[in-house]
Formats: sequence, structure tokens, C-alpha cells
Amino acid sequence: MSLTDHWNDRYENNPASKLSWYQESSPEVEFITSNVGKATPIIDIGGGLSPFVHELIDLEFTDLTVLDISDFALSEGVRKAEGRKVEWIASDIRDWSPERMFGLWHDRAVFHFLTVKEDQQRYFSMAAEALVPGGYLIMGTFSENGPETCSGLPVARHSIVNLTSSLAVDFTVIDTSIQVHITPSGSAQEFAWVYAVRN
Ligand SMILES: C[S@@+](CC[C@H](N)C(=O)[O-])C[C@H]1O[C@@H](n2cnc3c(N)ncnc32)[C@H](O)[C@@H]1O
Repeated sequence: MSLTDHWNDRYENNPASKLSWYQESSPEVEFITSNVGKATPIIDIGGGLSPFVHELIDLEFTDLTVLDISDFALSEGVRKAEGRKVEWIASDIRDWSPERMFGLWHDRAVFHFLTVKEDQQRYFSMAAEALVPGGYLIMGTFSENGPETCSGLPVARHSIVNLTSSLAVDFTVIDTSIQVHITPSGSAQEFAWVYAVRN
């Protein structure tokens, strides 16, 4: 099964509220409303069925992009957005190159699927190239104490120290935290969150 089929299958055959990564709302939105203007170009990497983009739509952010490998998840996003303008990009992040600049790059629970060092390095370079100076990177990924798989796939786990050091070339890290996500079935998953500014 291809990776696209894997993710389409997950989304098509499970209620969103039963997916292990499900959460009702995105705490990151509070930082975003306090720190960037409503016209800031914002991209959500691997947005899936996350409420993130819909929360921003409701808050009248006007320049929103969602990239995901699952075209099924994106089509659900289009339906839920009810005609409100969002750029939907169906792509594997590893095969994608941004064609424009963004003021904020958001990734919850996607970077940890990049298990190959070169893919991780390319991801950080791409985020750096796509963000304007002063733009924000917000990333939440399984910490070194997080699960070893997600959605049945192997993941790479990252400590805050390692994420901070990988980002140091192009970014200044402004905040970090360890957050525990409780899955719908009651398991605890430890995430490392990093907020950084493009130099
Ligand atoms: C664990 S889910 C997280 C979804 C969402 N960010 C959230 O917090 O609800 C991972 C998401 O990343 C997408 N994804 C996985 N690998 C990807 C890749 N290589 N390129 C783009 N999207 C990917 C999946 O389709 C899925 O929507």
C-alpha cells in the first residue's frame, strides 16, 4: 500500500474523533492570534482533519494553506471550509517545494514521520527558505519519550535539545515545551513543541 493509500484509508475508515492524534482545538492558535496579523500567509503541514485551519478561518485569517499527502483528508477540509478560500495542496512533503513565502509554518505530528536524516534536513531547509525573516515555525513532534509508532508507521522521536540544535542554523528558538496528548483511547503521548523565529 502506498503512503497516500495508507493515510486515505485511515481517514476514510475511522471517525475523526477516534484517530489517535485527534484533538478538539489547537492551543497554538492563541500564540498565532497574539503574534501575527490576519493577512499573514500561514501553512499547516500535514493538516489532515485537524481543526487548526478551521479555527483560523473562523478568526478571519485570510491567507491559509494546508498541505497533506491524503487527498481524502483535503477533500473533507474543502467541504468543511464551506467555500471559504484556502489553498489545498495534495503532496508528500518530501516531494514538495514551496512556490511562495509564508509568515508562519505549522506542523503538528507530521515531522516525526520523516525517519531519514536527509529528509529531516531537507524539511528544515525548506521551512527556512519558505519563511520570511521574522516568520514563525511552530512544530510539535513526538519527544524522545513519545511512542515509537504513529498510525502504524515508524517515527523518529526528537528531544527539545536536538530540535533546537537542528534549527539553530536558520532560526532562533523562542519557546519550547513538553506536552502530553491523551489519545481518544486514553493513552498518553509525549510531544516536544518548539516555537522558533526565522532569522
Ligand atoms: C498524525 S496525523 C496529524 C494530523 C494533524 N496535523 C493533526 O494534528 O491533527 C499526520 C498527518 O500527516 C499527513 N502526512 C503523513 N506523512 C506525510 C507526508 N510525507 N507528507 C505530507 N503529509 C503527510 C497525514 O496524512 C496526516 O494527515
